[in-house]
Amino acid sequence: MPVVSTDWRQQVAYQIYPRSFADSNGDGIGDLPGITAKLDYLEALGVGIVWLSPVYDSPNDDNGYDIRDYRRIMKEFGTMADFDQMLAGMKARGIRLMMDLVVNHTSDEHEWFKQARSSRDNPYHDFYIWQDPVEGREPTNWEAAFNGSAWTFNEATGEYYLHMFSKKQPDLNWENPKVRQEVYALMHFWLTKGVGGFRMDVINMISKPWQLDPTGQSLPRLPDAPVVQDGFLQPAFEMVTHGPRLMDFMHEMRREVLDHYDCITVGESPCATVEQAQAITDAETGALNMVFQFEHMDVDSQPGKGKWALKPLHLPDLKASLSHWQTALHGKGWNSLYWCNHDQPRAISRFGDDGVFRVRSGKMLATCLHMMQGTPFIYQGEELGMTNVKWHHIDAYQDIETRNMFHVAVTQKRQNPEQVMKAIHAKGRDNARTPMQWTGDAQAGFTTGQPWLAVNDNFAEVNAAQALSDEDSLFHYYRQLIALRKTWPVLIDGQFELLLPKHTTLFAYTRQMASVRLLVLCNFSSQFQGLPLKQLPDISKATPLIGNLPLEEWHLAPDTLAAWEARVYVLS
Ligand code: NOJ
Repeated sequence: MPVVSTDWRQQVAYQIYPRSFADSNGDGIGDLPGITAKLDYLEALGVGIVWLSPVYDSPNDDNGYDIRDYRRIMKEFGTMADFDQMLAGMKARGIRLMMDLVVNHTSDEHEWFKQARSSRDNPYHDFYIWQDPVEGREPTNWEAAFNGSAWTFNEATGEYYLHMFSKKQPDLNWENPKVRQEVYALMHFWLTKGVGGFRMDVINMISKPWQLDPTGQSLPRLPDAPVVQDGFLQPAFEMVTHGPRLMDFMHEMRREVLDHYDCITVGESPCATVEQAQAITDAETGALNMVFQFEHMDVDSQPGKGKWALKPLHLPDLKASLSHWQTALHGKGWNSLYWCNHDQPRAISRFGDDGVFRVRSGKMLATCLHMMQGTPFIYQGEELGMTNVKWHHIDAYQDIETRNMFHVAVTQKRQNPEQVMKAIHAKGRDNARTPMQWTGDAQAGFTTGQPWLAVNDNFAEVNAAQALSDEDSLFHYYRQLIALRKTWPVLIDGQFELLLPKHTTLFAYTRQMASVRLLVLCNFSSQFQGLPLKQLPDISKATPLIGNLPLEEWHLAPDTLAAWEARVYVLS
């Protein structure tokens, strides 16, 4: 594992989605000078790492996750000088910058792809994944993440190219050593500039399951995916995650790049199992510091039907999933901890109560996650308690995934548009992408112009200015949680044990290191919750560490949790 200067495991990370963070020039789009102007805010929060979603030159088919030039800054976001200034500002505040590395695919407007698609004998042709038509059609039945086939026909060469996401995001061919060298070169470019790590976009998808003809007479092929009748499942995803050469590629990347810098890495890994995550994050034999796994993001969807097939949360499922990851990676790898990011709905609307208990349930969720083992990632606005939006018309939405899904569901599958909108309200990615709410002024202080995506209506009540001035706010609570991580080693190394696994509203667990033991109690409901004291460690002599209600209330009702209450005790 690369040598890292600080004990990064004590740090909390903060994700910035630059398009929606802060606009400095009134064009309605967040930018780098906007971020620089808010660094004091991040310093006040106490985060040690910033994960910055892509800021590279891009035609924005998928908001920057389609990169046209890895060494240029997107025009709307500013210049390389703006970037350098932002980076210097972060360094001055002891904040490590983690860039987004999107190298499973590029934009179709990247120079490599422009060359590659021009002819079969172009030197860049083999940078991407091509297959001849099979009986005049797509070579496999794979479906892309944003709907439709994962293959698009290219007239000039008479072949199909693979894209696991939109057709403007062709997948790179990692089997080609020249591709890997180009990726390593661009990583060196940013690391030499002084960035402190990478979040690697869908990195476990880079090795595809090629089937070789043992006689060597025909070209390698890709297999079909199992057929799924309905729903928005992406069966092809399971075909391409953790492929046969993934670990070879990761080890090579480690040798050629990561081992030479002080950097922290997190690999986004859809469909990852704990065993796969162990392999990737093992301190000796792995390659990355941690992965983003998705298991707990699936607990409120119908199994096998994809994210839009809604299902009410059954708390024991969430507990079982998180606790499995806690125990399986303990001492073997390292967890990332998150409730939300730019691809997920807002946590309070999803797992808490975005009505009267908005702040309290936000604090409960924060407590529940931050007391676990791993690196917590806060998504911009989470610390303010930002919530989902419910726009009535699909045209209000900008996200390619949401728009494509609506179109296919309503026009091809003839689903009821109102039902489809319900799913979008619950799960759509634009829930997370509405502009950051800085003040109660026009456009929430995000821009002086017209924002690229509408501001959430609740900005007058939910905004950073209000949160900073209220000492009981969610922001200040997050600040306390972040500080605790630096002073309580048990939060870093302590063993996790789930209590009451079947309880449908209480999430209870302990963390223990030597004689220090913490008890975490969280009420995931709007009802009072009597504590089953006989099944819990003795709290009669325990000391309160942190909670979301005043201490007097703990004493008044030692055996009851109020709605959405969270308490952490130090057991003696
Ligand atoms: C995962 C990213 O988080 C998401 O926003 C993006 O659409 C896909 N990867 C494709 O890059």
